[in-house]
Amino acid sequence: MRARVFSGMQPSGNLHIGNYLGALKNWVRIQQEYECIFCIVDLHAVTVYQEPAALRAKIEEIAGLYLAAGIDPQVSAVMVQSAVPEHAELAWMLTCVTPVGWLERMTQYKAKAAKQESVGDGLLQYPVLMAADILLYQAAIVPVGDDQAQHLELTRDIAQRFNSLYGETFVMPATSLPSVGARIMGLDDPQVKMSKSETGAGHAVGLLDPPDKARKAIMRATTDSAPGVDFDNLGPGVANLLTIYQAFSGWTDDQMRKHFAGMRYGDLKKQVADVVIAHLEPFQKRYREIMGERGYVARVLAESAFRVRPLAAATVELAKRRMGLYTAE
Ligand code: AMP
Ligand code: TRP
Repeated sequence: MRARVFSGMQPSGNLHIGNYLGALKNWVRIQQEYECIFCIVDLHAVTVYQEPAALRAKIEEIAGLYLAAGIDPQVSAVMVQSAVPEHAELAWMLTCVTPVGWLERMTQYKAKAAKQESVGDGLLQYPVLMAADILLYQAAIVPVGDDQAQHLELTRDIAQRFNSLYGETFVMPATSLPSVGARIMGLDDPQVKMSKSETGAGHAVGLLDPPDKARKAIMRATTDSAPGVDFDNLGPGVANLLTIYQAFSGWTDDQMRKHFAGMRYGDLKKQVADVVIAHLEPFQKRYREIMGERGYVARVLAESAFRVRPLAAATVELAKRRMGLYTAE
């Protein structure tokens, strides 16, 4: 049996090249090798308020983006978290074995909580729900960007604790990070990661941004005062541009050095813009075709949910039995 892969993204904000290079691109690459489930995690999105109509539309948009990137629904499942109620059910069972202190230590929780006047309980529970997503399907591999590594460590801690309290139940999932592009930084500020919730022009390149907007953001990216690319002394902004180029092109370190050493920043940016746009244009064309076919995305989501539901139900049944919760004999 092929090992199982699970990953997901929140249907909030606009997906950007960081989401693509950190996660989505790698999902496409591994889907022939593993049994993959790619989720749109709407229950995670509502840990902060989402306008209902916008959220509803965003879910199908994200599904369309997965498909446009090359996820093949004949091969992989593309499903919505709230369509499979076992996610929430298992999350409760895991909540009961998770010390609050573990959750309060999560850096994403601390960063998000600092921005809120009143912190919803969902924000604290967020990583437990994420653990449930993964453990529910007994996933062995979870391909994500670097910012999710801490949540995955916590997932393993929760699984271990459940297994030691109640007996072997969950597969221990491994984190899979891309070798290049695991953490794409903001174009305007290379000290912070490129983020969906950051809306300033020039921060990110959205996967659905028109090419001229993408080019403008890249040409304005923050660099430093050196005259050109010096591989022995790369500032964070220049390093980020080179990473974006390398991740899109698939070039080796050697090829990168030979080609870019000494290049002036203006020329570097132009070439980064070219490689990004060369990928975005066919991607956006596929996206428009997919969304133009009425009912197609909804059908993929329904079929996928139908396909994965028995896997989820089996794990919940097992976890209930292990805990002594009520199941029919
Ligand atoms: P999110 O936008 O939080 O739903 O994240 C979806 C996926 O994209 C996760 O696997 C993240 O780790 C990944 N990701 C988000 N931002 C970045 C970034 N700036 N660079 C690389 N990967 C990212
Ligand atoms: N927390 C992840 C993020 O913001 C999204 C997510 C939810 C996820 N459940 C998951 C990722 C399970 C991988 C596996 O990026």
